[in-house]
Amino acid sequence: MHGPNLDLLGEREPEIYGRVTLDEINREMRNIARERKVELEIFQSNHEGEIVSRIGEGPKRYSGLLINPAAYTHTSVAIRDAISASGLKTVEVHLTNIYARESFRERSLIAPVAVGQVSGFGAKSYEWGLMALLDLLSPRRDGK
Ligand code: DQA
Repeated sequence: MHGPNLDLLGEREPEIYGRVTLDEINREMRNIARERKVELEIFQSNHEGEIVSRIGEGPKRYSGLLINPAAYTHTSVAIRDAISASGLKTVEVHLTNIYARESFRERSLIAPVAVGQVSGFGAKSYEWGLMALLDLLSPRRDGK
């Protein structure tokens, strides 16, 4: 799940977020899901309420949540509560290292209700975050 302004990736402050587009990130997510034979639904919204409602459908529809809450990371009690209420295993991802930027980005309201966070590796944060989530949901027996 992608939060606000991530639809602008590629053109949005490329010196901070790079040139990778959301479509490219999503394509890689679908490749990983295909390889691991899992169903993946991708959702982006600029609206807090839409994100809350979609997470609310969680337990019936999904087994886990990979989310870049974008700016809502730092502000949204509503998204945090939705994740907590859903009981979904959640991995939080960020393209940038939120601890190495402005001080208001250092606090994530989402982190305490996520299993973990991957922050600072560009599009790789999503790839590694998805792999971590899949492993949580169904650990590989070979230990890799
Ligand atoms: C972001 C970091 C947030 O602080 C910011 O508001 C974003 C993107 C990231 O992926 O690095 O929109 O979540």
